[in-house]
Amino acid sequence: MRLLQECFVANRKWAASELRDDPEYFRRLQSLHKPEMLWIGCSDARLPPNEIIGRRSGELFVHRNVANLMVHSDLNCLSVLQFAVDVLGVRHVIVCGHYGCGGIETALDRKPHGLIDNWLRHVRDVRMAHDDELEGIDDPVERVNRLSELNVKAQVANVCHTTIVQDAWRRGQELTVHGWIYALSDGLLRDLGLCVERPEQIPPPYQID
Ligand code: CO
Repeated sequence: MRLLQECFVANRKWAASELRDDPEYFRRLQSLHKPEMLWIGCSDARLPPNEIIGRRSGELFVHRNVANLMVHSDLNCLSVLQFAVDVLGVRHVIVCGHYGCGGIETALDRKPHGLIDNWLRHVRDVRMAHDDELEGIDDPVERVNRLSELNVKAQVANVCHTTIVQDAWRRGQELTVHGWIYALSDGLLRDLGLCVERPEQIPPPYQID
């Protein structure tokens, strides 16, 4: 119970310190929800999105799941994306993976892990698509890290292929999808250079006019 009590103590301290800096802080936030970015990241506890990119409350719309997946039939992630793009009008969608991801590691082994193996099947599909390259990497840590990068790339593509993003582009809404990766070892983000901002950047079979 002490741990939970500590949470409430910390919360009161935090709220008080925000009010000390700005007495109108919560009143303003209450009537203003206008984040400019959507973050799709891994559920891993070591990646608190607001903290690692210095965003305050209200500045980041967030969706997290194991291995930062954007599955085209996942109503949860699709709903977050639709609300972020259509209602909040975010200008950037960031898919952020991380090196040393347990979900990615799991998709590289043969052991059973229960229900989550069905979710991580999506990572296994990414692995399958790059099997030759991944098999050529001897160091198991490097192999996990490379699959983490390839997975971010695949999820950026999945975000771009949705009707939500393509509809936004068609109506002239400014929207860029980015792929980033975070290293637990040094706390630093790397931009994978995957910026997608136009429908012509996606393969024709996925383009919907
Ligand atoms: Co992870």
